[in-house]
Amino acid sequence: METENTQYVTGISESGAVHLHWGEKCPAEDFEIFPSSEKSSNHSKSDFCKTEYVPFGGTMYRECALKCTFADGCRDTVLKYENCKISENMLTVIMTDKYYGLKVNLIYKLFGGSDIIERYTEIINDGNDKIIIEKAASAEINLPSQRAYTIINTSGSWGGEFRKTEETLESGTISYESRKGTSAHHHLPALIAAQNADEYSGEVFFAVLAYSGNFKVSVSRDFIGKTSAVIGINDFDFSKTLHKGEIFRTPSVYIGKANGLCRMSNMLSEFTVRNLLPKRFAYENLPVLYNSWEATEFNVNESNQLKLAKTAAEIGCELFVMDDGWFSSRITDKSGLGDWNVNKFKFPKGLNSLIKSINALGMDFGIWFEPEMVNPASVLYKKHPEWTYHYSSRKPNLLRNQLVLNLTKPEVQKYILTCLDDMLSSCNIKYIKWDMNRPFSEIGADNLENPKELWYRHTQAVYDIVDSLKQKHHDVQFEACASGGGRTDLGALSNFDMVWPSDNTDPLDRLDIQQGYSLLYPIKCMRSWVTDTNKNSRQELELCKKYIKLYKEIRHTIQFGKLYRIMDFSKDKIYFKGYVSSDKSQAVFFADTNANSFFGDRFVNLKFKGLDKEARYSVKTDRRKIIKSGAYLMSVGIDTDYTKPLNSEIFILNKIK
Ligand code: GLA
Repeated sequence: METENTQYVTGISESGAVHLHWGEKCPAEDFEIFPSSEKSSNHSKSDFCKTEYVPFGGTMYRECALKCTFADGCRDTVLKYENCKISENMLTVIMTDKYYGLKVNLIYKLFGGSDIIERYTEIINDGNDKIIIEKAASAEINLPSQRAYTIINTSGSWGGEFRKTEETLESGTISYESRKGTSAHHHLPALIAAQNADEYSGEVFFAVLAYSGNFKVSVSRDFIGKTSAVIGINDFDFSKTLHKGEIFRTPSVYIGKANGLCRMSNMLSEFTVRNLLPKRFAYENLPVLYNSWEATEFNVNESNQLKLAKTAAEIGCELFVMDDGWFSSRITDKSGLGDWNVNKFKFPKGLNSLIKSINALGMDFGIWFEPEMVNPASVLYKKHPEWTYHYSSRKPNLLRNQLVLNLTKPEVQKYILTCLDDMLSSCNIKYIKWDMNRPFSEIGADNLENPKELWYRHTQAVYDIVDSLKQKHHDVQFEACASGGGRTDLGALSNFDMVWPSDNTDPLDRLDIQQGYSLLYPIKCMRSWVTDTNKNSRQELELCKKYIKLYKEIRHTIQFGKLYRIMDFSKDKIYFKGYVSSDKSQAVFFADTNANSFFGDRFVNLKFKGLDKEARYSVKTDRRKIIKSGAYLMSVGIDTDYTKPLNSEIFILNKIK
């Protein structure tokens, strides 16, 4: 397979599909498969073979991609190459375990003009008896170098998502996973393996899973220095019963190679916007949004929302989103979830009265939902306690006073779909913030023949409901939120239009969080609020107004331009990053310092990137107005000082015609 700049080669041997190469392009006729031989009775040839999708069984002891239990109790899978199909941009390698009628299709899909390959696997039961799948990864991935890789991921938490980590994998296994029901706040559902890499140099191999449920990425380095990874749905508490004729399709994983981390980020971001994001809003600028949560929390009503909306409109917001608190008995987080009818005391004239006033102010209206949840103190729970995941022998654990609805039940899916559809059909709502605020527990689902299917079925149900709503209500945008960034992944971004990366809106913390977010995900899909612990004074509102006006002039460059991460707190005690429009006519760079004075480090040299060398740019900031060539700005740069804590500067560069 050849992408724009790379080549990916698989070959066929007695062990099924073997991995031969991923990197620079080489003549196809040069590739050959060296037969592997036993090295000793303790190191079978399976240890040395680079496979594309290795099943559990035989003398294979490393992390497997597939594990099955057959009807007769056999847990040993033997895959042999059957044939392959090639269509214009897709390769399917078909392998079978003939004895049991198991068929495994490895799919590779190429995208013109890109270095990204989509991989997923179909597992098919062509036999007569059922097969229990206990593990079904999306892909196995082999890295070319025998030297140890630096594995990059994040160590996150609620309020502290996307904090980048790096560790060298000399030996053994590093694994990143979620067991909470969502992709969760902790780790990226991705493999990023680098050698001698910084933002703009070195080899970076990546594989990013498009899935919002429990995932696992295991990357291992063995005694001969082979680094390989298995990535996909977490096998923790997973199992799938595959009946005769049934197909199980794993989520997709997007793999690629880049020179440097920032190049990886741009490659993924462009790819996601072009190929994954729902089409309707993919190339539209994000509207400037005002969200009520930090101002009024649960205490929303028509008059206070209208008051906020007037201020929001005055400072230039385009979309007003009323957060939690608008429905049924919702006064605190103790009640109301599940009963999605408008609270009559808070909104005696119904929602449309508020929406009309907000529309009259020139803004669209959006609203918060948490569809997958129920409070025990709700009408829904009294009527249908059996609609939650539960075991009759166990007391359910409440988190934030709520329980998770069993979305694997068709009647629950229908209820959620109807509630949201009714709201969207009866009110002029242009935006849904879809929240999800707790992990699963007491995961009983006695409606399922195999209750361990609940994890992936739940995730699929969320996607299906959002897709159905989008089909009927084309003009509504959907934001994925899960207590901040607990559902930020390419699965969410294949169904939702954007994500809320963190509840932490402290500007300094946010710089770190957003920097980590930008590793894999498009800036275009990132919601961001500016908040303060105090109420904004008139003066501060004027400042907001000024910056929103400025933002509207540069937002297209920020959302659709190329990202350049140049300096960051951890190494440089300053953040310096920018965005350059595709024709290089506009660029916007941000320099941000932190709260402390930093001794000699307050004197900085800022070298720009991505500009047109030959062109001259006017450079405007609050402190300076200069004209320089792209060449000068990139190789000499600007010497400056930031002597006060929290100094920052926005550089707007326009090419002079
Ligand atoms: C979660 C979200 C917040 C807000 C609250 C409302 O914490 O992440 O943005 O919507 O719920 O209850």
